[in-house]
Amino acid sequence: MPENDIFPASDFDDWAETYDRSVADWQAFPFTGYDDLLKTVLRLAEPRPGLSVLDLGTGTGNLALPFARAGCDLWCTDFSEPMLAKARQKLPAAHFVLHDLRLPLHAGFQRPFDRIVSAYVFHHFELDEKIRVLRGLFPHLAPGGRIIIGDIAFQDAAAMEKVKLAAGGEWEDEFYWLADEALAALREAGIQAEYSQVSSCAGVFVLPAPGGL
Ligand SMILES: C[S@@+](CC[C@H](N)C(=O)[O-])C[C@H]1O[C@@H](n2cnc3c(N)ncnc32)[C@H](O)[C@@H]1O
Repeated sequence: MPENDIFPASDFDDWAETYDRSVADWQAFPFTGYDDLLKTVLRLAEPRPGLSVLDLGTGTGNLALPFARAGCDLWCTDFSEPMLAKARQKLPAAHFVLHDLRLPLHAGFQRPFDRIVSAYVFHHFELDEKIRVLRGLFPHLAPGGRIIIGDIAFQDAAAMEKVKLAAGGEWEDEFYWLADEALAALREAGIQAEYSQVSSCAGVFVLPAPGGL
């Protein structure tokens, strides 16, 4: 278990039962544009039958489900067993691995993936840790593959401040992406990335494979 465990798996275990109702009912911050974000990740991934896809922080399987419907070879991972239990019910043909993303991918993942995708997960990590985790994923990307990360994100601090004011008591401080700062830090780390804003509080980063496995 990582030393700095601000968001332990137990926080998510308790949420598994009600998660799908939360995202359906909760159209305000932090889930403004939830469906659009998942659809954008899917569109940018260009799913097709046989494409190998690793979904990080699968939760109850809402991002993974359309990849399964598109016939992808789907691998799902999360560190919360109750979340994965919910996802297994929706995704009978997928592979599941219980895994903490902050640790190196273990032997079960020793294969290249055409796509590594994720939604609403990386904002649990500080920027340095986001970059450390992303860096560790590149060796698991197939040549020509890409990483696509949808999450709670803002173009810059001013855009976040606006949403924070409007959210009032619903606001919680977590490690939300600021695209201007994150793109600069990724560039400095030698990682190529593009960002697009999807809703007032969500956006998508696309990181292409430099050379793959
Ligand atoms: C807000 S939910 C998002 C679920 C799903 N991707 C979606 O878009 O609906 C965050 C998920 O990330 C998982 N998660 C958070 N931190 C994690 C970590 N360090 N390692 C693996 N999974 C993690 C949680 O257990 C939870 O299922």
